[in-house]
Amino acid sequence: MTGKFATMDIKDSDIIHDEKKEFMHEILIGLSKTRKQIPSKYFYDDRGSELFNQITRHPDYYLTDCELEILNSYKHELSALLKNESFNLIELGPGEGIKTRLLLDRFLADQLSFSYFTIDISKKYLTKIIDQFNVELPQLETIALNSDYLNGIRWLSANSSKRNFLLFLGSSIGNFDLNSSKEFLGMLRSFLHPGDYLLIGFDLLKDIEILMRAYNDEAGITREFNLNLLRRMNKDLAANFNVDTFHHYGTYNAYTKAMESHLLSKKEQIVYIGALKKSFGFKEFEPIHVESSQKYTLSQIENLANATQFKVVNNFTDSKRYFINSLWMV
Ligand code: AVJ
Repeated sequence: MTGKFATMDIKDSDIIHDEKKEFMHEILIGLSKTRKQIPSKYFYDDRGSELFNQITRHPDYYLTDCELEILNSYKHELSALLKNESFNLIELGPGEGIKTRLLLDRFLADQLSFSYFTIDISKKYLTKIIDQFNVELPQLETIALNSDYLNGIRWLSANSSKRNFLLFLGSSIGNFDLNSSKEFLGMLRSFLHPGDYLLIGFDLLKDIEILMRAYNDEAGITREFNLNLLRRMNKDLAANFNVDTFHHYGTYNAYTKAMESHLLSKKEQIVYIGALKKSFGFKEFEPIHVESSQKYTLSQIENLANATQFKVVNNFTDSKRYFINSLWMV
């Protein structure tokens, strides 16, 4: 088999997706609220992605190491599920592809018959990961779908009758609150075929001290990661945030069972956003809510699978029982 590169743009033809307009719109809405907030997806400009990669390598952020341990321990078992058939391996948001490589290397060594599809809204990430895999794994057929997750899955499912094995790793689902994750997974499920698999990462609820450290790492990378959102607005939206006048505050919400990140204004101040031609007032200690990372109990994971009509095939966990990769089937 020869390596192959393809990019498909799947977009609603009536809607022209304008990233900057959407960013401007969501900032206008979010900063006009009584409780100011910014969607966490805006962390990931070039610098933000680089900082996130650094977070995943810091020991305080235990999630990545736990998931790597799980995938390493169970890659043989996963591979065995998929032998003797031709299937689609689909990944939602591959990041740096380190975890993906663990599975890809195993599947290729076991001579499984599959194509690798990766779906991301950002063309830049897609190109990067595809270029990387084409160099490192020339025997793998890799296809990039430039789309949001749900439209990508819908397109793929409609255009292939092979079994789908879907990867949604890294606790990305955690950025949804419980209701939104139910909605998202229910939609996902409706686009899949009977027999399709989903391997999904959940961070388990645990000692609050450990959670707190993961989102307030000792090296201050998470702090930089959060403050970078203000730098991004300065750069992309001609805002004049003085980053030194904001404070990163990571905390646990006992009612929602989520870690939350907030940026607190250290003083009363007015910030001007050039692209919006608008000023926003901040009171002393006023927060901007920038991220929630939902933590799960095992029974919540099982309820979520039931509510969205998936069957839990297996729950794979690490030796510390901090993280679960849950294998679901339609
Ligand atoms: C990429 C959403 C899984 O919520 O743990 C890491 C992002 N934020 N440190 C998470 C993040 C702060 C991460 N996810």
